[in-house]
Amino acid sequence: MSILDKHTILERNATLLLVGSLLVVSIGGIVEIAPLFYLENTIEKVEGMRPYSPLELAGRDIYVREGCYVCHSQMIRPFRDEVERYGHYSLAAESMYDHPFQWGSKRTGPDLARVGDRYSNEWHVQHMTEPRSVVPESVMPSYAFLKETPLEVTNVAMNLKANRAVGVPYTDEMIDNAAADLKAQADPNADTAGIEARYPKAKLGDFDGDAQRLTEMDALIAYLQMLGTLVDFSTYDDTTGYR
Ligand code: HEC
Repeated sequence: MSILDKHTILERNATLLLVGSLLVVSIGGIVEIAPLFYLENTIEKVEGMRPYSPLELAGRDIYVREGCYVCHSQMIRPFRDEVERYGHYSLAAESMYDHPFQWGSKRTGPDLARVGDRYSNEWHVQHMTEPRSVVPESVMPSYAFLKETPLEVTNVAMNLKANRAVGVPYTDEMIDNAAADLKAQADPNADTAGIEARYPKAKLGDFDGDAQRLTEMDALIAYLQMLGTLVDFSTYDDTTGYR
């Protein structure tokens, strides 16, 4: 009986075939997955990544609450068509502080991983208020109410602490200043030296066009405007990492 004939024993016995297949798939799975837990560079370090500022974090919570991820992904795949349309493909490190990830699984609208700096704040307010006034064929719903809803975050510091508990490196200083930073980032008259030091590249000033009020629109736009802007890709090399 040659070895190939022995294979017919497996093929004729459904239970044995199932057990055999599971065994092979588990070995393959373990070989692929287990090393990732031990490699130090599973998430390659990149310069520029920092935790979200309190206002950006609040905006991100609104993004999640409103289900923006149902129509928008935040994950640029390394294909030519995607890279030409959206910019450099997403690096793992760029979502390392996202709990939960906003990669998404469906694109009714475009990917938003690098939407930061692409439009003005005014464009975003207009688009959120009435998407069809700027993109006539748009099927995106209106989110005009965000402009009328005061931003209420019951405990800003706790938000940061909860993120720290799952590994986001918020410092004590960031947590102590969280409530003040949340307000100051969207206040054109505030002293922002602290925010700029704690959260480099944070966008500052009024976002929703009404400097008197801090609204959910302010937070959401502060978040959208920083997406994909932290890593400087002019100093990043695709094959070797940093030049
Ligand atoms: C029903 C699906 C749907 C939902 C939900 C949705 N969008 Fe959109 N969005 C679209 C479509 C379609 C477009 C493309 C047309 C346009 O620009 O309006 C778009 C475009 C955008 C753009 C412009 C992107 C670009 O690169 O031009 C932004 C920014 C945006 N959406 C943000 C949001 C945010 C924030 C939310 C949640 C508050 C949201 N969207 C919810 C469908 C959706």
